[in-house]
Amino acid sequence: MCKPILDVCCGSRMFYFDKNNPDVVFMDCRKLEEKLCDGRKLEIKPDIIGDFRNIPFKDETFNMVIYDPPHLIRAGDKSWLALKYGKLSSNWKEDLTQGFNECMRVLRKHGTLVFKWNEEQISLKEILSIFPQQPVLGNKRSKTHWLVFMKM
Ligand SMILES: C[S@@+](CC[C@H](N)C(=O)[O-])C[C@H]1O[C@@H](n2cnc3c(N)ncnc32)[C@H](O)[C@@H]1O
Repeated sequence: MCKPILDVCCGSRMFYFDKNNPDVVFMDCRKLEEKLCDGRKLEIKPDIIGDFRNIPFKDETFNMVIYDPPHLIRAGDKSWLALKYGKLSSNWKEDLTQGFNECMRVLRKHGTLVFKWNEEQISLKEILSIFPQQPVLGNKRSKTHWLVFMKM
């Protein structure tokens, strides 16, 4: 699969302008099709099933990696939020750091990692303190952060 972009937890592809962008490998740890009580459908249909803690690609494969992991530690297991965004385990610090390191591993030199984080339950400061590298840039003020890292 020789594509330039990997999304390691694509979910329902909400933030894509083209949800079938042919340049992206869409990965998630689950497949899901659920009808909500208001009639809307939640569909998670990755190209490949995989775990961001152990990404099934060789070193230095992609020019860009997108990393938008679950951001909630507290949410009912059957809640709409957990269904849509997934939920972190009690081991979340190790999981997210391992995911970050795996994203960097599959990036080519000078490739870009786009990381999204919502501070609803865990602050950005705490997340950045566990990552081995600081972002080049990102928005600092809103609750949802888009950060850009580069593989040096
Ligand atoms: C915040 S949502 C992603 C939303 C997505 N960016 C969108 O635009 O719809 C987080 C996703 O990470 C997935 N996920 C959770 N743990 C994972 C893991 N270890 N490896 C890969 N995906 C995982 C969940 O299934 C969930 O779909």
